[in-house]
Amino acid sequence: MKVALLTGGGDCPGLNPVIRGAVQTLTNAGHECVGLLEGWKGARDGDAIPLTPKVTDGIIDKGGTILFSSRTNLFKDAATEAKNVPILLESFKRLGIDALIAIGGDDTLGVARKLHDKYQLKTVGCPKTIDNDLCATDYTFGFDTSVNICMEAIDRCRTTAESHRRILVVETMGRHAGWIAAFAGIAGGADYILVPEENEHIEDVLTKMYATLNQRRADGKMWGIVVVSEGITLPDSVLKEVPPSVIRQTDEVDSFGHKQLGGIGEVIAELIKIKTGISTRAVVLGHMQRGGPPSAFDRVLGTRFGIHAARLVLNGDWGKMVALRGLDIVTVSLEEATGVNRALDMKFMDEAREFFK
Ligand code: F6P
Repeated sequence: MKVALLTGGGDCPGLNPVIRGAVQTLTNAGHECVGLLEGWKGARDGDAIPLTPKVTDGIIDKGGTILFSSRTNLFKDAATEAKNVPILLESFKRLGIDALIAIGGDDTLGVARKLHDKYQLKTVGCPKTIDNDLCATDYTFGFDTSVNICMEAIDRCRTTAESHRRILVVETMGRHAGWIAAFAGIAGGADYILVPEENEHIEDVLTKMYATLNQRRADGKMWGIVVVSEGITLPDSVLKEVPPSVIRQTDEVDSFGHKQLGGIGEVIAELIKIKTGISTRAVVLGHMQRGGPPSAFDRVLGTRFGIHAARLVLNGDWGKMVALRGLDIVTVSLEEATGVNRALDMKFMDEAREFFK
C-alpha cells in the first residue's frame, strides 16, 4: 500500500512523533508512505513528499509539523465540496495513494470522516489539539506540552507579581473549552481561574473573584495570579464597565467558521483594577503555547498514536480513530469522535475552587 499522512488545523507539539511512529510501523510492514503538505490543501492539490524512517528519524523532539498545516476546509459549502473533492480524488489516483492517516482536531477529522462516509476514501484519524476538547479520548497530544508552557509562564509571572504587589492575569488558549486554563491554573497555583464552561453565570463568578482577591489582600497576600481562558464571554452589562479601547473586536473567522479569540485577559485585568483598586496587568500567552518541543508525555502519546493509527491501516479499520482510555490506546469511530466538542470536566474546577476561598 501507499499510505498518505497529513496534519491539519492549528499545529501542536507531538505531531512529528505521530508521523515518526506511523511511518516506522508502516515501513516495518513493507508499505510506502508519503506526506501531504499543508493539510487538506496538499491532499487536494496532490502536493506530496516521500516519508521514510530516514526522513522521520530525529524529529521526535521537533515542535510543529514537518508536513506543515492549514485550515483548508474541503466541505465549507456545497460549491466548495463539488469543486474540491473531485480534484482531491484525482490527485490521490495520480499519486497512487491507497489510504490516508489524517492527524488533526475536530475540523480535520470531520473532513476525514466525510471523505470516508460519502466518498469511500480509506481514512483513519489521529486526535490532535492543545485544547484537549475532542470527544472519545481522555487526552489529545499537545495538551500536556501546552499546559507545561503555561505553568512555566505562570511561575515567572508570580515572581514579578509578588515584587510589584500586583495581580497578573494570564490568558490561555483553548477555544471554547477550559482544559488548558484549568490545568495550568491548578499547576501554577492560581488565585482564580475563569473558564468558558461558566459563561452562563459569569457575572456571579466575577463577583466571587473580586471578593476573593480583596480578601486575600486583607489577609496579607499582596499579589495574585488569575488564569483566564480565551473563550470566556462577558455580557454587555459587564463590558460597559470598561473603556471600549480595551475590548478587542474582530469578526475574522477561519474556513471552519471559528471566530478568532484572544484579548479577554485585558478586559478582565481592567475589571479587576476597577472593582478592587489593585494594580493589575494582563499577559496573553498566545501561540507560545503551541510552539517548541513536545513534553515527554506528548512524545510518548504521539508515538503510540502514530503506531496504532498505522495498525488501523494495516487492519483495514477505515473510518476509525485512535484514542487514549486510561493507559490503553483504543479504537473509536470518527463519527463518535467528531461534531461535538468536549467541555472541561468540571470536577477539576471543583477541586481548584478549594483554593479560591
Ligand atoms: O485549536 C487550537 C488553537 O490554538 C486554539 O486554542 C486557538 O483559539 C486557535 O487554535 C488559534 O488559531 P490560529 O492559530 O489560527 O490563530
